[in-house]
Amino acid sequence: MRIRLAYYSGSGNTQCVAQLMRRFIKNHEVSTFFIKKNRKMDEEYDALLIGSPVYAYMPPLTVMEFVSSLKGRGRPAFIYLTKGLISGDAGRKLAKVLKKNGFVVTGVSDLLMADSLFILLLREGSFLHKIMLYPNKNIEARVKKLSRTITERLLKKEEKIPPGKWYVPITTKIAALFWKKEQKLQRAFLTDERCDLCGACEGLCPRKNITVEKSVIWGDDCEFCLRCFHRCPQTAIQIGTYTLRSPRYRGP
Ligand SMILES: Cc1cc2nc3c(=O)[nH]c(=O)nc-3n(C[C@H](O)[C@H](O)[C@H](O)COP(=O)(O)O)c2cc1C
Ligand code: SF4
Ligand code: SF4
Repeated sequence: MRIRLAYYSGSGNTQCVAQLMRRFIKNHEVSTFFIKKNRKMDEEYDALLIGSPVYAYMPPLTVMEFVSSLKGRGRPAFIYLTKGLISGDAGRKLAKVLKKNGFVVTGVSDLLMADSLFILLLREGSFLHKIMLYPNKNIEARVKKLSRTITERLLKKEEKIPPGKWYVPITTKIAALFWKKEQKLQRAFLTDERCDLCGACEGLCPRKNITVEKSVIWGDDCEFCLRCFHRCPQTAIQIGTYTLRSPRYRGP
């Protein structure tokens, strides 16, 4: 079976899981694809594996746009989510779009990992920072186990979509408040004196929202994945003055 593992990742959790799955899924050909805005994927696969983080209880917009463009033609699909705490409606939302587009959705699974958003509120090396990283413990063993389940489910090709959760109307309201606040936060991105205009952030942004010329310029199409913030080689990106002492995080 040729498995296509298409994933999206901000700080690096979902990316790390994708790399581990590639190592642990045996006897099948696994090829990976990093999901970016408007990036097209070929059709040369027998089964689809989608990896997505949870942003405000939902899949990121880029992942939703991507899965909406796919054609299942009866092929099996499986979804894994990485989350900081609560996945809300993210898995079901993706599963429903995939099903509508002709995939047989064989399961959705959540992996608890360090929270790439809440880490912004912490101080480098603090006790809370260490606690925040704790969910990454045993990630290899958890991914190894999940990889076995995924292969079995994809081969069996039986539909398994999770039921709706009772708390989703509440998380939807919280998410709306978050995205309102995010509009202000995305305008607060700036670089400090460590920026050497290397241009890495331009290539890192999955939404092509950054231009580097004589300075670094952010557009208004940001989904706050924080890839630029966490992965700038000079740690030169700040969000206003909120993040002067925040740790940067690049996955386990
Ligand atoms: C903007 C944003 C919103 C988030 N919202 C949630 C959430 O609603 N529920 C949750 O469990 N984790 C949430 N998280 C945490 C991430 O889902 C989690 O850390 C994930 O593993 C990050 O994966 P990535 O590094 O591949 O982007 C959020 C992170 C960000 C950046
Ligand atoms: S990646 Fe960092 S150092 Fe490089 S241009 Fe962007 S902000 Fe500046
Ligand atoms: S600008 Fe930064 S936070 Fe916004 S989408 Fe691009 S990489 Fe993510």
